[in-house]
Amino acid sequence: MSDSEPELEARLVAEESFDPPASFTEQANVADPALYDGFDAEWPECWEQAADLLDWEASYDTVLDDSQPPFFEWFTGGSLNASTNCLDRHLDDRGEEAAIEWVGEPTDEANETYTYAELHREVNEFAAALRGLGVEEDDVVTMYMPMLPELPVAMLACARIGAPHSVVFAGFSADALATRMEAADSEYLVTCDGYYRRGDALDHFEKAADGLDAVAHDVTTVVVDRLGADDHGHDLSDDHHDYDTLVADHAGATVDPVARDAEDMLFLMYTSGTTGQPKGVKHTTGGYLSWVSWTSQAVLDVKPEDTYFCSADIGWITGHSYIVYGPLALGTTTMLYEGAPDYPARDRLWEIVERYDATQLYTAPTAIRAFMKWGTEHVDAHDLSSLRLLGTVGEPINPRAWNWYYEHVGDGECPVVDTWWQTETGGMMVTTLPGVSRMKPGAAGRPLPGVDAQVVGPNGESVEPGQAGYLTVQKPWPGMLRTLYQNDERYVEEYWAEFSDTDSDDPDDWVYFPEDGAKVDEDGYITVLGRVDDVINVSGHRLGTMEIESAIVGCEGVAEAAVVGGDHEVKGEAVYAYVITEDGQPESDAFREEIVGAVEDAIGPIARPESVQFTPELPKTRSGKIMRRLLEDVANDDDLGDTSTLRNPEIVQEL
Ligand code: PRX
Repeated sequence: MSDSEPELEARLVAEESFDPPASFTEQANVADPALYDGFDAEWPECWEQAADLLDWEASYDTVLDDSQPPFFEWFTGGSLNASTNCLDRHLDDRGEEAAIEWVGEPTDEANETYTYAELHREVNEFAAALRGLGVEEDDVVTMYMPMLPELPVAMLACARIGAPHSVVFAGFSADALATRMEAADSEYLVTCDGYYRRGDALDHFEKAADGLDAVAHDVTTVVVDRLGADDHGHDLSDDHHDYDTLVADHAGATVDPVARDAEDMLFLMYTSGTTGQPKGVKHTTGGYLSWVSWTSQAVLDVKPEDTYFCSADIGWITGHSYIVYGPLALGTTTMLYEGAPDYPARDRLWEIVERYDATQLYTAPTAIRAFMKWGTEHVDAHDLSSLRLLGTVGEPINPRAWNWYYEHVGDGECPVVDTWWQTETGGMMVTTLPGVSRMKPGAAGRPLPGVDAQVVGPNGESVEPGQAGYLTVQKPWPGMLRTLYQNDERYVEEYWAEFSDTDSDDPDDWVYFPEDGAKVDEDGYITVLGRVDDVINVSGHRLGTMEIESAIVGCEGVAEAAVVGGDHEVKGEAVYAYVITEDGQPESDAFREEIVGAVEDAIGPIARPESVQFTPELPKTRSGKIMRRLLEDVANDDDLGDTSTLRNPEIVQEL
């Protein structure tokens, strides 16, 4: 918990709750409430049910090895390959069925269907190509690509040869790419020339090339040609490998999947934390894949014959777990949409749902708030009766948005699952089971069966129902991160130090702290209140305030800066920056623009400050710490409360 911990506000939970529709329960993958007690009684062996959803090359000896907390290991002694589980094993039954339905943004362009057989073929060919380029088992391959089908192909090709991938969100800047490649010692990059966004062809290659310039070691680069040679103006043939040529050169190649130890790394994903340096979250092959498969089945109710649509970007964890690995492990059809939800019109998503008869929609509250704002006519214009389940993730959903989603998109017939989880948890942790649980808009639900999440006070003791406290997870789970890449110490410090007895060898003394505030009601339903560290959540995207601050103070003319999250109608939170200039630096609009530009360069447009306010001082405690809570109140126009502990209370009035 940071010193500047925001106050935990009460968040609304609606009075009205809803039973799961009978039509849903009748066909649900999980419909038995006894699962909760059963999992408690059988813990940790209950998780064999998750591991049983996979094909193992060698079966495991031990479900959980907790001999060295908090370095928990799952399904030890077992080995498997993620690409075999997502592809090969479906070929007999589902070879001719769609694995991926890709929809590009331009409406005059043909969409692409990859059957399981086709996806299997291309993954093999690209895996052979990667090997040909020198990629060996355990080499980290970075991908910096938007929502193109080549992204999951590349991820699965890496998985096939046992090379962990590290996908960097395409909206991140060149600097952000370079930082992540250096941190992971990654010598391979798969990227693309560009992509379409709201009708424009965006140059992506230039950003990638700028990033590569900033990487100290040599990098072998593969470029996917999305726009066509005429459009991007780059000569890609020089230093880089063209994806299509590589795949064509390896036409028909097959690569034996490498048997990976259950605990071998499947991928790295960098995420924001309290300090400026992103954290390299390490996920493993056995535990992670079991977790995302089990939760896809139990919570998203995925069945092979479904057409499942998650509108997240694969560059974030939601896309990894619930566009690529979970759905493909279950052999279903997963949708990939390249573009914006309002291009060419505000009904684009609904048009896609209708055209493909999508059966589930998994999206973020920020998108739902935007849909609400755009008006019901866009939804009403389409037949969405194919939908059976709706989901949300990424930030708290307020009851009004929940109800809108339930009524206007689901027509009151689809359960809504509000799923709380994180990059670090690998997959869902707290949510209702759609075929079992009563839904309470605004509350995520009970922890999943077998997940021991509890809301505690500062002393680590459970709080009374209705009281705000800290969300914790008291027992390990298979999908958990194993460490931060090459930084075990920071792993312990960031996630376990707060509520654990860190000298203890007893696993029961170790408590995971996700840095979220929460409260729980009489029925055990958890309402997540938001982060209690210096991480803000802009449109469901996790950003570290320190990362943004360090970009701002990097600007010549800036003496000091503080960044906080302020409420925003659609984005949930927006970035507010308070800046002290150096003497002689004009506080002009031009300088404001320069600051905004510096943030975009360091992180990307998602971190762009909503406002940059110049100030002669920042509110500070007597010990010299910036009082972010007060800046948040200023950003939100809230009552400022007690300012008497400040060294400089007058500055707050000025702000
Ligand atoms: O604050 C919580 C919020 O998103 C954070 C995790 O962000 P990230 O690692 O980027 O993963 C996002 C997608 C899983 C959490 O610490 N969060 C996520 N889901 C919810 C949520 N807050 C409230 N309700 C949720 N359903």
